[in-house]
Amino acid sequence: MEQLQSILTTALTEMAEIGSLPELEQFKARYVGKQGAITGYMQKLKDIAPELRKEFGAQINAIKQEFEGALQRHRSAIEEQELRAKLASEAIDVTLPGRGTQQGSLHPVNLALKRLIEIFAALGFGVADGPEIECDYYNFKALNIPENHPARTMQDTFYTAAGNVLRTHTSPIQVRYAENNQPPIRIIAPGRVYRVDMDATHSPMFHQMELLWIDKGISFANLKAVISDFMRQFFEDDSIQVRFRASFFPFTEPSAEVDIFFAKTGKWLEVGGCGMVHPNVLNYMKIDSNEYSGFAFGFGIDRLAMLKYGVTDLRLMFDNDVDFLRQFRGI
Ligand code: PHE
Repeated sequence: MEQLQSILTTALTEMAEIGSLPELEQFKARYVGKQGAITGYMQKLKDIAPELRKEFGAQINAIKQEFEGALQRHRSAIEEQELRAKLASEAIDVTLPGRGTQQGSLHPVNLALKRLIEIFAALGFGVADGPEIECDYYNFKALNIPENHPARTMQDTFYTAAGNVLRTHTSPIQVRYAENNQPPIRIIAPGRVYRVDMDATHSPMFHQMELLWIDKGISFANLKAVISDFMRQFFEDDSIQVRFRASFFPFTEPSAEVDIFFAKTGKWLEVGGCGMVHPNVLNYMKIDSNEYSGFAFGFGIDRLAMLKYGVTDLRLMFDNDVDFLRQFRGI
């Protein structure tokens, strides 16, 4: 019994050092498991004289119970400690300051586009759309630019392996729209266009907007009025002068280059091309050129956005530099 008492004392000292539940289970097995030290004494009972067995049995039991009681208390202590550690690690300090919200901004091209759509919607123009991968027919042929026509070299074209093109301008949308809609036609068609070109004022992808108005009796006077009015509205500057410089486009006749003059800078700047829709193009559109006439205007949206917001390098418009874009917040 003395031996057993000293085993218990050692066990209790050992137990005090144990800090985890799996370790505690292993420890338990060493004392009261099948091969355990305390269990061994129970098995020895049968070798003891029968008259002493009852007393010894009771004493062994008492020691076993003391061991198990201590084990249970230690287990609860470990569990509580683990729970506390877990709660501490998951604690949230509600007194910390917040991180604040980040406000984004519209890209200057989208800001300009929004404004353009508003201005033209007020003039009764709807918005039309077309594919960026275009076939030769819409990008060139139906715009009166037949194969081998020198005008094809005016625009350096990206071709796809299948012989299609990345549209070089938004003019193909004119034909696509007119195929499905009879006059009167009054649309704008914004979108991405592509040309083999890259420097401070040219990007291989940029944005254009096409303007098309076809009806009975539309003349160059209407063209001039719409474009001049639009420029003054877009730049919110009634002093802007608009100049129409005679030019050539296969799909318009007569054609002109549109320049605007800013009093601020004292300079004329070219912003787009325009003209009266060529009768051959009206034919491709299946519109009777004896009954109807119309004008078209195509310009770079990026170019107008740069002028409006004072951006000097076109590449900034496509770098997606956050410091640059942030400046358009709230505009
Ligand atoms: N599509 C022409 C270009 O990209 C611009 C234009 C549009 C000219 C409409 C005349 C009429 O250069």
